[in-house]
Amino acid sequence: MNLEYLIEKEIDEKKQGEALSIKNNLSTSKKMYLESYGCQMNFSDSEIVASILTSEGFTTTKNIEEADLVLVNTCSIREKAEQTVRNRLKEYNAIKKKQNPKMIVGVLGCMAERLKEKLLEEEKLVDIVVGPDAYRDLPDLIKQADDGRKAVNVILSKEETYAEINPVRLGGNGVTAFVSITRGCDNMCTFCVVPFTRGRERSRNPESIVNECKELLADGYKEVTLLGQNVDSYLWFGGGAKKEFNNLSNQEKSLSLNFAQLMELVAKISPKLRVRFSTSNPQDMTDDVLLVMAKYDNICNYIHLPVQSGNNRILEIMKRGYTKEEYLHRIAKIRDILPDCAISMDMISGFCTETAEEHKETLNLMDKVKFDFGYIFKYSERPNTPAQRKWKDDIPEETKQKRLAEVIDLQIKHSLIKNKETIGNEYEILIEGESKKDKNKLFGRTKQNKVVIVDKKSYKSGDFLHVIIEDCTSATLIGKVK
Ligand code: SAH
Ligand code: F3S
Repeated sequence: MNLEYLIEKEIDEKKQGEALSIKNNLSTSKKMYLESYGCQMNFSDSEIVASILTSEGFTTTKNIEEADLVLVNTCSIREKAEQTVRNRLKEYNAIKKKQNPKMIVGVLGCMAERLKEKLLEEEKLVDIVVGPDAYRDLPDLIKQADDGRKAVNVILSKEETYAEINPVRLGGNGVTAFVSITRGCDNMCTFCVVPFTRGRERSRNPESIVNECKELLADGYKEVTLLGQNVDSYLWFGGGAKKEFNNLSNQEKSLSLNFAQLMELVAKISPKLRVRFSTSNPQDMTDDVLLVMAKYDNICNYIHLPVQSGNNRILEIMKRGYTKEEYLHRIAKIRDILPDCAISMDMISGFCTETAEEHKETLNLMDKVKFDFGYIFKYSERPNTPAQRKWKDDIPEETKQKRLAEVIDLQIKHSLIKNKETIGNEYEILIEGESKKDKNKLFGRTKQNKVVIVDKKSYKSGDFLHVIIEDCTSATLIGKVK
C-alpha cells in the first residue's frame, strides 16, 4: 500500500496549522499562538478568530514559548483527530508549567463543542473552551480566564455566520483563499458528529461573500474556494432557517438566492478570479450548478462529491439520502454537462454491519466511476451520533483495515489511470508555491485540481501558466511550460 496516499485529510489531522506572524505595529501587544486541525472550515474559522483577536491588539507568534495565549482549533470527526489534539494539549501544558505559567490555553472548535466543560473541569487541560459559534466572545473569555474564572462558551447559534468579519489570512500563499458561505449541517448522516458540533445549517449573506471575494482579488489573490459542509444547500432569503423558506409567498421566494446563483455572482466578479467550491452533496446538487460551471471559464472543473459507500443498504443506514443508482446518475450528468471535470469522493470502510459482499459493491462502484482522487477513511465510532446509539461498531479492526487498504489500493490505480490520460494535453495552472521536494521546481493546480510540477525558471506564485503534461504518478503531474 502506498503510504503517500494516506491521504490529505488524514495528514490534515496531524499538525498542519502553523501559526504565522502577522505584521503589526503594536510592539507591546499580547502574543497569540494559533494552531488548527481538521477540515478547511476550521482553517477558515481560525482566520476569523485571528481577525477578532488582532482587533483586540493581539499579534501572532510562531514561537509557543513566548505566547500569552495558545489557541488550538480542533476536529472531532474521527477518534484519531481528537487523540492528536489531546497529545498537543499535554505538550502545551508541559511548556506552560516549565516556561510560562501565565500562558492561557484555549480549545476552539468541534472538540470544545463536543466535550464542553469536561476539558476544563475533569481533564484540566485548558483554561478556555469556545465552540464554533462563540468566537466573538473570545475577548471576554480571555479576560475571565486572566481573572482565574471559568471561561466557557459553547452556545450554538442559528444565525451566526461571522458575515462581516474580515478574516486575517494565516499561513496562506497569498494566491488562494477560503471563503465560507454556510455554517453547520442539517443532514444528520448517522456516522457524523458535525451536526452536533457545528450546529444547524445557515447561509451567509451573499453581499458579504461577494465583497470578501472582491477584496481578495484586490489584494492579489487569484483563486477563492467557497466553503460549506454542503454548499448545494446554500439558500439566502434574508436570513432565517430553511424551514421558514417554505412559508414564503412565490414572489418572496423569487427573491431568494441558491448556490448556483451565488456562484454565478462570484464568477462574474472577474474572469481573472478562479472559483472553486467544497463540499458538494449528491442528494442536493442540481443541474443548475453544473450549467453555471459550464458557462463560466473561471469556475474550476472539479467536484468533490462524497459517496461513503457503494451499497444501498449501507447508504440507507448512513441516511445519506441517495441510492447507488442516484449517485451514478449524478456522475453521468456531471460527465455529460462537464466532460473534462475531475471528480473526487469520500469513502468510509467498515461501517456498522457492512458485509464482505457490500464492501465489494463499494469497489464495484469505484470501478464504474473511476474517481480522480479519494479521501478514504476507516469508520470511527463517535459518541452520541445516531450510529453509535443504534448499532454496534461490529466490524473487527483487522477487517476494517483490510477493506480500507483495498479501497485505497484501487483508488491509487484509478488515480494513475486518470492522471495518465492527461499526458500530452495542455492545461492552465495557477502557481501556488515551491515544490516541497525540489527547490528548483514550483507547483500549481489545473482547474481539475491536479497538482502539476514545473521547472521554476523565473516564474512565481500567482502566475497562470500554460503547460503540457509530460509524465505523472498517481498523485502528481509533471508539466513543461508551453
Ligand atoms: N460534508 C462535509 C463532510 C465532513 S466530514 C465536508 O465538507 O467534507 C468529511 C468526511 O469524513 C466525510 O465525508 C466522511 O467520509 C468522513 N467521516 C465523517 N464521519 C466519520 C466517521 N465517524 N468515521 C470515519 N469517517 C468519517
Ligand atoms: Fe456530516 Fe453528512 Fe453533514 S457527512 S457534515 S452530516 S453531509
